[in-house]
Amino acid sequence: MAVFGNPFTANVERKITKEELIQAIRMDIAGELEAIYIYDAHIQATDDEFTKKVLGDIRDEEKAHVGELMTLLRYLDPKEAEHFEEGVQEVSEMMQEPGIQANPRSTVGSLLKE
Ligand SMILES: [Fe+2]
Repeated sequence: MAVFGNPFTANVERKITKEELIQAIRMDIAGELEAIYIYDAHIQATDDEFTKKVLGDIRDEEKAHVGELMTLLRYLDPKEAEHFEEGVQEVSEMMQEPGIQANPRSTVGSLLKE
């Protein structure tokens, strides 16, 4: 969550290392996930359909940002990308047991269309 008391809170006085950049990208992902959570809470808290539509659109843009940042993280840290892939494979195997016909890389939206 943003800290508005000091407008320079996020400034860094030097160029950061690759390891620090990876940490920063993880924080950026956390910020996007927090934004998604907050927009969803506000959507659930109102009956105003136009507001729901606008906030839903913004929320979905944040989801795209998560995808962009995850792709960037995979680029910056291929070893971490291997761990992500392990997780995809584990869930893929778990889905096969009860015969769930879903691609673990599917989005919620694409699952709804299936
Ligand atoms: Fe965003």
